[in-house]
Amino acid sequence: MADESQKWVLMVTAQTPTNIAVIKYWGKRDENLILAINDSISVTLDPAHLCTTTTVAVSPAFNQDRMWLLGKEISLSGGRYQNCLREIRARANDVEDEKKGIKITKKDWENLRVHVASYNNFPTAAGLASSAAGFACLVYSLAKLMNVQEDNGRLSAIARQGSGSACRSLYGGFVKWVMGKEENGSDSIAVPLVDERHWDELVIIIAVVCSRQKETSSTSGMRETVETSALIEHRAKEVVPKRIIQMEEAIQKRDFATFTHLTCADSNQFHAVCLDTVNFLLNVSQILMVCLIFRIISCVEKWNRSEGTPQVAYTFDAGPNAVLIARNRTSTSLLLQRLLFHFPPNSETDLNSYVIGDKSLMEDIG
Ligand code: ADP
Ligand code: DP6
Ligand code: CO
Repeated sequence: MADESQKWVLMVTAQTPTNIAVIKYWGKRDENLILAINDSISVTLDPAHLCTTTTVAVSPAFNQDRMWLLGKEISLSGGRYQNCLREIRARANDVEDEKKGIKITKKDWENLRVHVASYNNFPTAAGLASSAAGFACLVYSLAKLMNVQEDNGRLSAIARQGSGSACRSLYGGFVKWVMGKEENGSDSIAVPLVDERHWDELVIIIAVVCSRQKETSSTSGMRETVETSALIEHRAKEVVPKRIIQMEEAIQKRDFATFTHLTCADSNQFHAVCLDTVNFLLNVSQILMVCLIFRIISCVEKWNRSEGTPQVAYTFDAGPNAVLIARNRTSTSLLLQRLLFHFPPNSETDLNSYVIGDKSLMEDIG
């Protein structure tokens, strides 16, 4: 590249939604490659709501890879960022921008450094899967910048090396992360289960109980579980494989009753293995949150029971924030009324809800 070319910067911006697991991933068999001990299934949210926006830039003027997360520079020295960068760089192709007079050859990418700026429009590291949207978006935008010609399945295997849950955000709708068998992780990829619009009636509501950073990251929490929980092996080997089959069928058939039963049961079992984990610290503020979680669960379960057929499924990740999946718009409206009644705004139990799907529903209730 000529000296004149030192002036150019080439940029790509991408947006990726987060995903919420309905059959949870919790536990690795390989920490470096991020290989799970069980399959998992999630639903990817609408990109217009909870998402990450990442801009990646390349210029001959950059002398090292750098990244800013929410405006603050973070270190890229960790294995996860390095693994993603290395895997994408290894697949880079020629890039040409005639208007700007830029030509980058496959070989040039080895010596070019990138700058990354990323922003999450929802709480980071608070149990709403920021690592999923974050690493999926990082891998996707780098792949676009470097003209990587891999399909989303192959990209999912790279995003997986950033954060396990990230592989499922490469697709919309209901997605399965197949744990795979290969030692090198080549068959540990995400696959879409149905067309993105297959079950459009569902409305997902996220009640943000606490947007503070959680005290135990998913990574260390699940490591402790694998090392110390007596229940985890039973979950991974006996329970989840059956649930995966049943969940796939429920999704195919849009069978909301079975979907709700499996989603709630799996969220509860995931929290049961967390409680069975030595060193999974519960301090006083977390105990108060656990109480709130149980209040939400009990509110939902009472309602489902009184209706005869389930109206809403609940699931909680590694934090107190409730993800509620309502069967349709009518049940969403009723659910919000109930939540507002039990957790009135500006009260001690204000849930500060995010409404995903249709913001006007909040106004309907007044
Ligand atoms: P969460 O429940 O939000 O997924 P985790 O503990 O799994 O919490 O992951 C949080 C970590 O994910 C952050 O500390 C950061 O390293 C990474 N992360 C979050 N957002 C992004 C992003 N936009 N781009 C890259 N990495 C991110
Ligand atoms: C409870 O994908 O955040 O959200 O692979 O170590 O980055 P790492 O963990 P992460 O774990 C997510 C756990 C979960 C369940 C799920 O998303 O399946
Ligand atoms: Co995460």
